[in-house]
Amino acid sequence: MISSAAAHPNLAFVKYWGQRDARLNLPANGSISVNLSGVVTTTTVMFDPNLAEDTIRINDRPPDRVTHDRVVAHLDRVRALAGLAAPARVVSANDFPASIGLASSASAFAALSLAATRAAGLTLSERDLAILARKGSGSACRSVPEGFVEWLKGEDDRSSYARSLAPVDHWDMRVVSVAFRDRLKLVTSLEGHRAAPTSPFYRARLASVTDRLDRVRTAILGRDLEALGIMAEREAASLHAVAMTSQVVTKPWMSGIYYLEPGTLDLIRRVHRWRAGGLPVYFTLDAGPTVHLLCETLYLDEVKARLTNFAEAYDVRLITSRPARGAWLTAESGKA
Ligand code: PMV
Repeated sequence: MISSAAAHPNLAFVKYWGQRDARLNLPANGSISVNLSGVVTTTTVMFDPNLAEDTIRINDRPPDRVTHDRVVAHLDRVRALAGLAAPARVVSANDFPASIGLASSASAFAALSLAATRAAGLTLSERDLAILARKGSGSACRSVPEGFVEWLKGEDDRSSYARSLAPVDHWDMRVVSVAFRDRLKLVTSLEGHRAAPTSPFYRARLASVTDRLDRVRTAILGRDLEALGIMAEREAASLHAVAMTSQVVTKPWMSGIYYLEPGTLDLIRRVHRWRAGGLPVYFTLDAGPTVHLLCETLYLDEVKARLTNFAEAYDVRLITSRPARGAWLTAESGKA
């Protein structure tokens, strides 16, 4: 069987930063996100006993060694589930640049999990698919269910999964992602997760995150952008405070992890000024310089108009999203 699946990346309002179990990608805390419609990864998988080994192409070329090995490890998980030995051919494409703070690994492992399990003749429940995707890249589990999604911290492999909190049409909000071009990050999120416990602020973050999870869940269910926005901004600051004060073991020359660019801070300050002037717009950041602006549809044109000025000063790409569906099958053919 050849199966193709697609998935959107997701943007966390409460972040996953730090792990309880690095092998299973069990998170130190729960997290909440929304799927972003503006960008998508599409992946096709076919298991073929005639192949000598797994053949992987991402965006029309073979991936780097680390990515290759992560994809092969994920295919091994699917083969173990299905009792298959055959190598696979995997072709994946993103319609957006990687490593700029739009979590391409999330959409990639969500789409790969769905395409590979179907190609192997398996039909997993949404929960089992989220658990599988989590093992590829933690945040990928949140790209499996639709709309606004919570990843439950859980106790073990079976109980740490993602489920939808609200569907796509629950809230007519928009995310404008302001991505700086040609800025490759020096520290991957995997290195960031591992370094996080070395920060003296990490424990303080974990002690306060349950309260933020409750507030963000309530804000989403009540469509309260101000409550959501303030919490999302604090969460971004909390992630970056931990990152800046944590030590990457393999990079002793770095005193801490700085993901921000000058433009990131400039835009944050503009957002606060815009809000002081009455425009309800908020921001969040992931492990990169990209600033994600949150607003209701009513204010989208005004937010974009204000960004024109900013885009003249910095080389940025704007991507507008609405809440999006979870991972879905795009095509299937042949027998398993
Ligand atoms: O799934 P990972 O290991 O790439 O971690 C993603 C971490 C953040 O994007 C920074 C936060 C999050 O919750 O998505």
